[in-house]
Amino acid sequence: MEEKVKFCFRSLYGKDAQLLVIAPGRINLIGEHTDYNGGLVLPAAIDKYMYFLFSTNDSNKGNVYAMDLDESINIDLENLRKTNSTWANYFIGLLVEFKLERLAIKGFDCVFSSEIPIGAGMSSSAALECGFALGMDYINRAGLGNWEIINLSHRSNHKFMNIYGGIMDQFASLFGRAQKCMLLDCDDRTFEYKDLILNDHAVVLINTKVQHEHSSSGYNTRSDECKKIEALIQEQHPQLKKISDVPLNELNEISKGWPEHLICRAQYIVDENIRVLEFCKALKDGNIQRMGTLLYQSHDGLQHQFDVSCPELDLLVDIAKAREEVVGARMMGGGFGGCTINIMKSDKVEEVTQDLMNKYHENTGIEAESYFVNISEGAKVVLL
Ligand code: GLA
Repeated sequence: MEEKVKFCFRSLYGKDAQLLVIAPGRINLIGEHTDYNGGLVLPAAIDKYMYFLFSTNDSNKGNVYAMDLDESINIDLENLRKTNSTWANYFIGLLVEFKLERLAIKGFDCVFSSEIPIGAGMSSSAALECGFALGMDYINRAGLGNWEIINLSHRSNHKFMNIYGGIMDQFASLFGRAQKCMLLDCDDRTFEYKDLILNDHAVVLINTKVQHEHSSSGYNTRSDECKKIEALIQEQHPQLKKISDVPLNELNEISKGWPEHLICRAQYIVDENIRVLEFCKALKDGNIQRMGTLLYQSHDGLQHQFDVSCPELDLLVDIAKAREEVVGARMMGGGFGGCTINIMKSDKVEEVTQDLMNKYHENTGIEAESYFVNISEGAKVVLL
């Protein structure tokens, strides 16, 4: 892949690049939609990457070529404006934030290409943001650390992209470590690396190959609902800042009189945080069956209480339940389509995955895709 991108860069700009940046996608074992609620998540970076090449140029333009899409943009760095290309807007939104931080931006040439499937819930967008931000940071000697890049990207998502997401994806892409998942507290931002040892079991992602149209509006609706819940909580309990601060045994009392759907959302978040801790305990104890059960419970909550699943994801999880080699499965990421994450017996991985995909196809007419992922290091910058 690197060679292909280098060749493309040379043909396009007539010179070699100065910098290679590689940024991974992520999985999330458990802790979904908890990040923007000050809760716990357990992501890991995976060996599917986005590759970027950069060099400076002497203009005030940022030239970017998206190899896989065969699309390019020329960004006027003096006059940053939204375009009608989503990938380009991710770049421009970040540049706006760099400027707001009073960081000078030199003209640059860039080519990028991705192995991370788009819309699959593996966070290609965070890899896009982190890879680009690291490149800009290096080229402009901005000296940003990982957390500053996460903050820039988070602000750009909210202000420029109108996506009211959390910090999990950028965090995973930047802080990933081989064979480790990371327990992150999204409130105080403390985190711990945990060995991801599944003994004779493996993680398999199965892509429904659907991404429902309302996925981003659905995501934002949930985020709005959670803000409403926070306001309701704070009216009576100003010391509780986030849904995740509500103790399980006080939720019933605190939520009396709320609209039914908000009670469900809050219950899901409080339960999911507990599941994350229980999953970590099961990981430490090597209790694979318990981990699997927690995945199924998480899906159940995402489907019925938080309401971010879809029939295709539910079907894949139901089909998985019918195979004893699969200990657990759930939808992964923002929802409304994308992948399920499955933990299943390593020696049966191919046969079982094929069977799940066949059954999915029989029911939906859609050819699913599967990915056997390894847990990898976070994003890195290589000087060429
Ligand atoms: C998307 C967002 C994340 C997180 C997940 C759901 O991936 O980008 O911040 O909210 O959905 O857990």
